[in-house]
Amino acid sequence: MERLENFKLRVPNRVYSALASKIAGLLLPQILAIEAGLFKGKSILVSAPTASGKTLVGEMAALNAIYSGKKVIYVAPLKALLSEKYEEFSKDYPGIKTTISMGDLTENDVNLDKSDMIFVSTEKLDSLLRNSSKGIVNVGCVIYDEIHLLGDPERGPALEFVISLNKRLYPKAQIIGLSATIGNSDEIAAWLGSELVKTDFRPVKLEKKIYFDKELVNGKKERVDNVDDPLLNIVIHLLKNRKQALVFSQTKKTAVSNAKSISQSVEKSLSEEEKKELKKLSADILYALDSPTTQCRELSDLVLKGVAFHHAGLVYKQRKLVEQSFRQGLIKFIVSTPTLALGVNLPANTVVISSIYRYGTSRMELLPAMEVAQMSGRAGRPKYDKEGTSIIIARTEKELEIIRDRYIDGGIEPVESGFNNEASLRKYILALVCFEPRISVKDLTDFFDSTFYGSRDFAFSYKVKEVLDFLVDKNFIEKTGSSLEPTDIGRLINRLYLDPYTGLLFLGFLEKMKKGMEYDDFKALHIIFCSQEFKFIRISQPEAAKYEEDSFSMSLHIDESLVPYDRYIAAIKMARVMEEWISEKKEAFIEEEYGVLPGEFYGLIENARWLLYALRELARFSGVKASEFSKLSVRVTHGIKEELLPLISLPNIGRVRARRLYANGMKSESDIKSSSQERLVKLLGQAVGTDLYKYLHKDDVQPTLKDVV
Ligand SMILES: Nc1ncnc2c1ncn2[C@@H]1O[C@H](COP(=O)(O)OP(=O)(O)OP(=O)(O)O)[C@@H](O)[C@H]1O
Ligand SMILES: [Mg+2]
Repeated sequence: MERLENFKLRVPNRVYSALASKIAGLLLPQILAIEAGLFKGKSILVSAPTASGKTLVGEMAALNAIYSGKKVIYVAPLKALLSEKYEEFSKDYPGIKTTISMGDLTENDVNLDKSDMIFVSTEKLDSLLRNSSKGIVNVGCVIYDEIHLLGDPERGPALEFVISLNKRLYPKAQIIGLSATIGNSDEIAAWLGSELVKTDFRPVKLEKKIYFDKELVNGKKERVDNVDDPLLNIVIHLLKNRKQALVFSQTKKTAVSNAKSISQSVEKSLSEEEKKELKKLSADILYALDSPTTQCRELSDLVLKGVAFHHAGLVYKQRKLVEQSFRQGLIKFIVSTPTLALGVNLPANTVVISSIYRYGTSRMELLPAMEVAQMSGRAGRPKYDKEGTSIIIARTEKELEIIRDRYIDGGIEPVESGFNNEASLRKYILALVCFEPRISVKDLTDFFDSTFYGSRDFAFSYKVKEVLDFLVDKNFIEKTGSSLEPTDIGRLINRLYLDPYTGLLFLGFLEKMKKGMEYDDFKALHIIFCSQEFKFIRISQPEAAKYEEDSFSMSLHIDESLVPYDRYIAAIKMARVMEEWISEKKEAFIEEEYGVLPGEFYGLIENARWLLYALRELARFSGVKASEFSKLSVRVTHGIKEELLPLISLPNIGRVRARRLYANGMKSESDIKSSSQERLVKLLGQAVGTDLYKYLHKDDVQPTLKDVV
C-alpha cells in the first residue's frame, strides 16, 4: 500500500478530500488505474485478483464524474452484491444522492434527474435504457462490476447488449469494467476500447489448500484427524483455531444437509453469551414470514447452534440477518450455494469448497475454474483478515489430480460471448430498431458487429439478417427499402421487455379470448408461466407425470407448438401453486405441498407480476377486456381472494389484516369508515388501527368557526 498523500497532485482535489476521510493509502490496482488515466476520463478494464480493491477504482471514477457535474451508473449482476455496494457507498459519501433499483421491471421508478449515482442490475438498466433513455442524460461514467459475467449463458447477453448500447449512446462516457476472473482480459479490453490494468497483486495472502485423506496438502502438509467425514473433520479443525468460515455447496439441498451435519460440533464451541444472542436471532429468522415454514424452522434451529445455510430459497430478510450476524462474528459458519460467491466482503478467514461438481443441463459437470476462484476469493478480505485460506475437498485420488491441474495450477477460462442465440437476437434487434427508428439495415448489422460476439464472428450479420426477416415477417418491424421502423406492436413488446416470441404466445391467447374463449385465472397463470421470461423451476419426473395427467383435461388455450413440452407441464404446476396463493394459502403450505421455498416463491411472484402486467397491456392493445388481468395481478401480489380486493389498497393492510377485517364484517372501505376507532384498534392494534381511522376520516369536514357562530 502506498500513502494517499503521495498522490495529492494526481488526484483531483475534491476526490482527494473525499478519499482522505476514508482511506490512508492506495493499493496497486488503484495506483495502476490512476496511471492508466482514470482521472483523465480513460475507460479502464481492471483485471485483478479477488479482494484487491477494484471497487475503489470504480468509486474514484464515480466521484470524479459526479464532482464534474455528471451522472454515474453502477451495474452489478447480483442483488446481494448490488445492495452491499449501494449501502457502503451511501454511507461513505453521505453528500452524494444515490438510488438503488434491482427488481421490478414494470416500473420506471429510477430517475437519474434526482440522483447523482444509480445502482442497478443489468436487466433493470436494459429495461430503463429502452424506456427512458431520453431521460438518462449527462452520463459521465458507467461501472460494470463482475464484468466476466458477459460469458454467463443466462445473464451475459443482456450485459453485452447494454454495454454495446452504452458505447453507442454515451460514446464519451467513461467505462470502468471490474473482474477478478477473465482469462482473456486483453480481448475484452480491446472490445471495450479501454486501457487494461492487469495485476496479480492481492493485499491479503490467499493460501490454496486441498484436503485429501485427512491431510491438508499443497504447500506445507498438515494432518487433520478428528473424524472421518471430510467436511466435519475440517470444521472441527477450524473450530480449534477459532476461525469463521464460509462453506460452499452446489445445491440448496446439500447446503442444508451440510449445515446440519456440522452444527453439533459448532454448538459446542459457543459461549453462554453467544447462545443468548443467537436465541434472539433465531426468533427473528423464524418469524420473518407471517407463519414459519419448515425451512424457516430448520434455519432458525441451526442458527441457535451458530450455523446457517444461505441460498435463493431464503427470503431477503433472512439472508440479510444471516450475513449481518456472520459479520458480527455471531454465526460461525455459513453453508452457501454460489449465491455468495461474487464480490461480497465477509469475514470468512477460510472458505471450504465441499464439492467440485455441479448439475449441468443434463448431467453432473466440473465447476469452471472461474467459479472456484470466485468462491475461494471470499476468504481473506482486507477489512477482516491478515491472511486467508481456501480448502477444496478431494474425495478420491482422481479428484485430487483434477483439483491440482484445474483449480490450483490451471488458468481461468476465457470469457466467451453467449450473444449468438435466437432469443437474444430477436429481443435486441427489436430493441435497437425501437431505439433508433428508421435505422438502416446496414447500421443495424454494424451495431451487432460491434458487440463482443460480433467482433469475433465475421459472418454474424447473416444471422442477424435472418432474425430480422423473422421479425419483419411477424409484423414487429416494418421494412421500407432498407429503412427499418418498429410497428406499434413491436414497440409495445419492446417496452414490456418481452421476447417477441412471447409476444406471439400472448397475442395468440388473447386472440382466442376475442373469439369467445372464456377467461379464467388458471389459464392466465398458465400462459405466463409458459413464457421463456418465466424463470424455470425444475420439477421432478414423478411430479411431471402427475401434471401431465392434469394436462389431458385442459382446454387448448394456447398454441402448444410455441412452447417446449417440459415447460408446458412445469407451467401447470406453477399455475397451481399460484392458485393456492391467491386462495390465501400460507407460504408454509406451499413449501410443504409443492416444495417451493419462500425465497423462490417471492421470486416467482415478482416474475408473475411483470408478465401479468405485460399480458394486460397486450390485452388493451388487442381490444380484449383487461380488468381481469389487473385484478389477478393485485391478487398475486398480495396473495388474496377476489373479495379482499377493496381492502388491500388501504395503508398497512396486507393479506392477514384484510382477512381479519373481512371476517368481522368489514367488506368495503365504507364499512370500515363507519366503524369506530376503538373497534379498528381492537382488530388491528394501536398503531395500524389509529392510522387507518385517521386516513379514512382525513377529508371529514371539520366545523368551521363560522358554522359554530
Ligand atoms: N485503499 C484501500 N485502503 C484500505 N482498504 C481498502 C482499500 N481498497 C480496498 N480496501 C478494502 O479491501 C476490501 C476488498 O476490496 P473490494 O471489495 O474492492 O475487492 P475486489 O477487488 O472488488 O474483490 P472481488 O473480486 O472479490 O470483488 C474491502 O473491504 C475494501 O474496503
Ligand atoms: Mg468486487
